Amino acid sequence: MTTALAEMPTEIGPEQHSSNIVETDNLTKWFDVGLGLFRGSLHLKAVDGVTLTIKRAETVAIVGESGSGKTTLGRTIIRLLEPTGGKLLYDGQDITHSAEKRLMWLRRKAQMIPQDPYSSVNPAFPVYRILEEPLVIHKQGESKEREEAVMKALQAVKLNPPTFFANKYPHMLSGGQRQRVAIARSLILNPEFILADEPVSMLDASVRISILRLLRQIQQQFGIAFLYITHDLATAKHFADRIGIMYAGRLVEEGPVGSVLGEPLHPYAQALMGAIPDPDPANRLVVRQSLPGEPPNLVDLPTGCHFHPRCPIAQMGLCDVKDPELRELRPGHRVACHLAT
Ligand SMILES: Nc1ncnc2c1ncn2[C@@H]1O[C@H](COP(=O)(O)OP(=O)(O)O)[C@@H](O)[C@H]1O
Ligand SMILES: [Mg+2]
Repeated sequence: MTTALAEMPTEIGPEQHSSNIVETDNLTKWFDVGLGLFRGSLHLKAVDGVTLTIKRAETVAIVGESGSGKTTLGRTIIRLLEPTGGKLLYDGQDITHSAEKRLMWLRRKAQMIPQDPYSSVNPAFPVYRILEEPLVIHKQGESKEREEAVMKALQAVKLNPPTFFANKYPHMLSGGQRQRVAIARSLILNPEFILADEPVSMLDASVRISILRLLRQIQQQFGIAFLYITHDLATAKHFADRIGIMYAGRLVEEGPVGSVLGEPLHPYAQALMGAIPDPDPANRLVVRQSLPGEPPNLVDLPTGCHFHPRCPIAQMGLCDVKDPELRELRPGHRVACHLAT
């Protein structure tokens, strides 16, 4: 697609391409939840020190229990939220605290596939207008080129024939078809990075596989980097190159999918693996132990390792006192546990 980039120097992104699309360094996002006397002093630490790199065309899955901070991490990375602390680089450029008006280039390059296909597309617009809108907002191409781009995007998500679907309104489509429209919209600006936050969790089980298969094809065909957020280890296994396990706002383990799922080293990851259902015995991951207790209160986090109150091997005097750093214990495979070897 030809583009007519607006010539506004402050909106142009980095000129040198970094091999890393996203780099975070000790990234935090705290929400101020204090009322009255506590106003400004009570923080909910949704993301509490995440250091993560996503390379070009790479898919990283973030897995964790509900409330572990996955969505907040994703939305902070694409700067829908401003970090509280740490550092955030996109394509080598520091965007930690960039003002929204300086992020137009990021709004083109980084897209999001939302969780809910029913609320994410404007029900008053036909599919054509839903897909054309980002091109209009970002002043991309003339009307003829925009039409070509819309038809190409519909083909990419297998809504064929594209002219048939272009005239439909969202209420005329099934959940799976709507999610395909949302995916087409995420592709329309030729992004290099897509945040897919539980993209199939609201869909019927019968269409989940076909949507995940489509995402995998798109990822390979267009070389787009993905941050795939899920609470489902089994889909992460099939979709991602690397996987990060999140617990109470922190990455506790991160590395190549084969290494992390083949040999989880963090006691929390080991407990999660016990919960993965896999019909193929060859793929069945060893059941280690079930997970006692409840996730911590993010307003009043445990000292030291956030997981220590639930950890079967925690050593008092160490794990309840000292924050564990991510250490590389296998090639490219990092674990934040004092006792993992
Ligand atoms: N805007 C907000 N204000 C206050 N708390 C929030 C806000 N957004 C998320 N949270 C809290 O942050 C924590 C992490 O939420 P979230 O990132 O949605 O987790 P996940 O996606 O892993 O389920 C939760 O306790 C949630 O209630
Ligand atoms: Mg979420």
